[in-house]
Amino acid sequence: MAKEQRITIVIAENELGEREKLKNLLAGEADIQVVGEARDGKECLDVVMRLRPNIVLIKEDLPVINGLDVAGQISGELPAVGVILILTGAEGEEVWHKMLRAGIREFVTRPLTGDRLLHEIRKVAELQSKAGKKGAGAPTATEPSEPKRKIVSVAGPRGGCGKTVLATNLAVALAARSDKIALVDLNLWGGDVAMLLDLTPRRSLGDLLPGFGGIDYDVVEAMMVKHSSGVSVLAAPLTGSFDGSTLSRYMVQSILEALRQHYECTVVDTGYANLESALAAMDYSDLILVVIGMDLPRLRDAKLYLKNLIAANYPREKLRVVVNRCGSSKEIAPAEIESILEFPVASQLPNDEGLVNSSVNLGQPLVLSNPNRQLSRAIGALADGVMPAPVTPKKRSGWFSLMS
Ligand SMILES: Nc1ncnc2c1ncn2[C@@H]1O[C@H](COP(=O)(O)OP(=O)(O)O)[C@@H](O)[C@H]1O
Ligand SMILES: [Mg+2]
Repeated sequence: MAKEQRITIVIAENELGEREKLKNLLAGEADIQVVGEARDGKECLDVVMRLRPNIVLIKEDLPVINGLDVAGQISGELPAVGVILILTGAEGEEVWHKMLRAGIREFVTRPLTGDRLLHEIRKVAELQSKAGKKGAGAPTATEPSEPKRKIVSVAGPRGGCGKTVLATNLAVALAARSDKIALVDLNLWGGDVAMLLDLTPRRSLGDLLPGFGGIDYDVVEAMMVKHSSGVSVLAAPLTGSFDGSTLSRYMVQSILEALRQHYECTVVDTGYANLESALAAMDYSDLILVVIGMDLPRLRDAKLYLKNLIAANYPREKLRVVVNRCGSSKEIAPAEIESILEFPVASQLPNDEGLVNSSVNLGQPLVLSNPNRQLSRAIGALADGVMPAPVTPKKRSGWFSLMS
């Protein structure tokens, strides 16, 4: 009987000490074999071309050719080779955008731990072998086994664009269609989903994090609180108790996988746009609502953000642009937005400060307290697009209801 096939790895790291550290972390794993090393970007390309490993670990700031460029090249030309970038964790927005553009989603941040690294390696190896000869090397995590259960991320290029208001009200609107709706607040630095629902959860996402290991549904479920609408909420911890960047891709994926098994729809408030956690949630989503504000700087940001998402191989069909606070700008007509963004607008949510403010202050979701207001109806139409209403659907025509 032949030896079980091992995951072959090439390490691209210019510092000897760091290379040794990596090798030590991987040593002694029966299913993993380091087959090559490279000290700069060019050597990395050569070694990978020659050895065709299952996985290449690439330091971001490699000499000669930058690690990100190398990673992009490999994932473009050798899609069977899984790429994992090693980041310092202090990279700025620019690196994040470049990563997206290069189709790189898999990365680990220093300080590296064996657990984290091994998990990432095994996960990427599995995705690679499942995908076989896949195109652009960006694993889009669709779950063929459960096509009907959906994960919907509410994302956006900037804070303050209305993600939390939308995510919360969308989940509540969906709760009228199913009693299996989850709402996850990934704002580890302090989320306000619980406040918008007037909940004071005793448990939260924060309780899942210390010693995060393999997680299953029972553990996640124990941290959730039920809102009177029927939505099960995984709230963010109280402000200040956690560093937002500690919420890793691995944690987010584990949590969402667990929720997908039990909820018909899971709505995720992704929080800060450039965090690993937001990216992970989007990778795992069937639908990504990109919430955009109505002023020019925000629209410009949004245009770049959308461009990057497309470049990073997020399928266009998964993306829905939601323009929020329509009517709040005198300079920009709603009709102009699509041409500014060069992207179709799926939904426009009207500006309604009175309603939103009182809803936030009272902790009463506006889709329940004022179901007939235009904003509530628009969110209802979005909910229809996620999950069709079961009984006597009113004359709503999905995404474009407010545009016609
Ligand atoms: N459609 C709207 N009309 C009026 N105000 C809104 C609307 N959507 C959001 N807001 C306000 O904008 C602010 C930011 O919304 P929030 O959902 O917290 O954004 P994010 O979660 O993206 O940071 C809040 O103060 C909220 O009251
Ligand atoms: Mg928010």
